[in-house]
Amino acid sequence: MSLKTLFIASECAPIAKIGGLADVTGALPKALKPLGVDVSVILPFYKVIKIKKNKLKLVKKNIPVIFNRKKESFNLWKTFLPNTNVPLFLIENKKYFSGKGVYVESDASSGGSEAEAGRFLFLSVAGIEIAKLMNADILHCQDWHTAIIPFIIKKEGHKIKTLLTIHNLGYQGIYPNKLVNKFLGTNFPEKNVNCLKLGILNTDLLNTVSKTYSREILTKKYGEGLKKILLKRKKDLSGILNGIDQDRFNPKTDSSLKANYSFSNLNKKKENKIDLQRILKLPQNQKTPLFSFIGRLTSQKGVDLICKIAPFLVNSSCQLVVLGKGERKYEKNLLKLARKYKKNISVKIKFDSALAQNIYAGSDFFLMPSKFEPCGLGQLISQRYGTIPIGRETGGLSDTIRHGKTGFLFKEYKAEAFLRSIKRALKFYQNEKEWKKLIERAMKKDFSWKKSAKEYIKLYRKLLS
Ligand code: GLC
Repeated sequence: MSLKTLFIASECAPIAKIGGLADVTGALPKALKPLGVDVSVILPFYKVIKIKKNKLKLVKKNIPVIFNRKKESFNLWKTFLPNTNVPLFLIENKKYFSGKGVYVESDASSGGSEAEAGRFLFLSVAGIEIAKLMNADILHCQDWHTAIIPFIIKKEGHKIKTLLTIHNLGYQGIYPNKLVNKFLGTNFPEKNVNCLKLGILNTDLLNTVSKTYSREILTKKYGEGLKKILLKRKKDLSGILNGIDQDRFNPKTDSSLKANYSFSNLNKKKENKIDLQRILKLPQNQKTPLFSFIGRLTSQKGVDLICKIAPFLVNSSCQLVVLGKGERKYEKNLLKLARKYKKNISVKIKFDSALAQNIYAGSDFFLMPSKFEPCGLGQLISQRYGTIPIGRETGGLSDTIRHGKTGFLFKEYKAEAFLRSIKRALKFYQNEKEWKKLIERAMKKDFSWKKSAKEYIKLYRKLLS
């Protein structure tokens, strides 16, 4: 079986990265290829992507499609994921992809505007055309941006099989029917068209990015209004945990660190802490417990809980470092805290992957009090760097943090529960022997893509059987 598979997505690291989705589409194909899958990735040719830097080659011009009720066309460009033989195809179309950024809307997007609808519906239509041209067996769709593909494929009667991976059920891509009908030439009567919902109903198989999240979304609390529809597909729904690129995230070789280290020379980890304190202009002291958070500043990530516990950290002479971007209200609150407690709190409102590495290496504790977390990558990276995660017991956090062994978990989404687990973690920190054991277990965990890649292959085979 050839398993000719095309990933189709809105993001792919490192070429166009906003969130965890990009890390997955940038790393999983690399793990699939050596296992015999003929895998490529398809992405829009965004304006932020540069031809020279990415060694792009034009492979085909003026490929015709029907879109917006008229003849449209696109050009196809090719390169490879860095240091691999995984082809990356970019779809060039001036009308739909030449606007700013990866997403049109600033909130990492969940549908709404005409420009956004045009962008991702065009990506979906063009993706199917490419799959037909390349004779692909499987289109592996990622999140709502390409979730309409299974619907179109069924409607048009193509042979291509589909797998839909849900990275975050909170974003569904909901558009007024008029827009979708205009772009796709469909006749949806309902007022709003929900791309993810259509994907769930029409895809051949679907999965989420951890076992626990795949069960949680079948409940009202985590179902985001799609519980009933997901229950209909229960037997075709599975959970496959994300991995991380263990070559890229390796404290032994990471070139952004002040000092490289492994479990056998943890003193070097402390040098990174001093360096981080220097970079962020915090008082430099090896002994000060240092907590960090890296991620999108959204309600999903539990940023309000972090703001609530921050004064406790200050009163206990700890330091807190936050790096990320997101909703304005969270950015403001955090910046206010940083101004008030200059010696204890540092907040950087940006995405900065080099600084992120310094933070993973230089901190003692990594905070992830998420309301929900399909998988979560921060807790995987932090464990690899010997930085102990404190997370809420949900989704991928439940599946990857061993409570009291490699990190700490708390149940209720409440500041008090979060605080209790922080206090418990601080107790361990004060006991050098226990603390070292925790770090050793965390650093020795295997979060590579190997196992999960095999599980994806099982799904691909099931699709073709
Ligand atoms: C989304 C989810 C996150 C997951 C990532 C990659 O960003 O919120 O939990 O790790 O997708 O699958």
